[in-house]
Amino acid sequence: MKGNNVLIEGKNLTKVFGFGGNKTTAVDNVSFAFHEGEIISIVGESGSGKTTLAKLIMGLLKESAGTIEYMGKPRRLKRHSDRRKYWKHIQAIFQDPFSSFNQFYRVEKLLLDCIKLQGEKLTKEEQLRRMKEACSFVNLKYEELHNKYPFELSGGQMQRLMIARIFILHPKLLIADEPTSMVDACSRSTILDMLLKLREENNMTIIFITHDVGLAYYVSDTLYIMEQGKVVEKGPAEEVILNPKHPYTRQLISDVPKIHSEWDLA
Ligand SMILES: Nc1ncnc2c1ncn2[C@@H]1O[C@H](COP(=O)(O)OP(=O)(O)OP(=O)(O)O)[C@@H](O)[C@H]1O
Ligand SMILES: [Mg+2]
Repeated sequence: MKGNNVLIEGKNLTKVFGFGGNKTTAVDNVSFAFHEGEIISIVGESGSGKTTLAKLIMGLLKESAGTIEYMGKPRRLKRHSDRRKYWKHIQAIFQDPFSSFNQFYRVEKLLLDCIKLQGEKLTKEEQLRRMKEACSFVNLKYEELHNKYPFELSGGQMQRLMIARIFILHPKLLIADEPTSMVDACSRSTILDMLLKLREENNMTIIFITHDVGLAYYVSDTLYIMEQGKVVEKGPAEEVILNPKHPYTRQLISDVPKIHSEWDLA
C-alpha cells in the first residue's frame, strides 16, 4: 500500500523542556522515515513523548537538536509564509477536539476557512457544494449544523467535523493524536474507516498516536514503539507484534491479551 517515496524524514531529533536541574528530555534522539501513503502508529504509554514528537513534526515546537527533511529538502519554517505552505501539507487532529476549533466561529465559517486555506478559487456555489460534500463524507448534515457553534456539537460530531476539514484540505500528512479517545466504540471504528478511506483516495500518509497497541496493529503498516522519549523498536506492524524484540514491546502486547482473537474476529 505504501509508496517508495519518503515524504518526511527525521534525523536524531531531541526535545528538551526546562532548564538547569529541571530538565525533561521528552524526545530523545529519534530518527524516522515516513513514506507517501504509509500508515504509521506511534505507540507508548503516557508521558513517553508521542505528542511532543507530533508537535516537532508539525513544526509547533522547535527541536533542541536534530533535523527534519520534507520531500527530500531540509524543512524551513522561519518565515510566516514557509509555515503557511508547510501547514497546507501537514495537518493534525489533536487529543481534544474542543481546543481545535475557534469557539466563536460557526460550522459554516470553520469549513469555509479551510476552503480558503486550500487556495483554489471557487464560486460561492462551488464552495457550498464542497462543504456539503465534506459533511456527507463524515455523515453529518450540513443543513442541520452550519449555523451551530462548536460548543453546540457533541464530541463525536466535533471529531467528524475535524475529519471534514481534512477532507477539504487533503494534506499529504495527517497526524492523528488519539483521535478516537472521546467517542464510543462504534463511532471509533467509523472514524478510523473514514481516515483509511481518505488515505486510499489521496495517498495520504497517516501517523496515528495511541496507547492502544491492538488498534495500532489493526490500522498500520509500520509501528514505532516509544518509551521515555526513545524509539525502542520499529518495523512492519506484523513483525513487531508477532515477533517483538524489545522487552517493553512484549510488555505492551501482554497487556492486551485478546489482541489476536479480537482482530481476527473483526
Ligand atoms: N510544554 C512542556 N513543558 C514541559 N514539559 C513538557 C511539555 N510538554 C510535555 N512535557 C513533558 O514531556 C514528556 C512527554 O510528554 P508528551 O505529552 O509528549 O507525552 P505523550 O506520550 O503524548 O503522553 P500521553 O499519552 O499522556 O498523551 C512528559 O514528561 C511531559 O511532562
Ligand atoms: Mg499525548
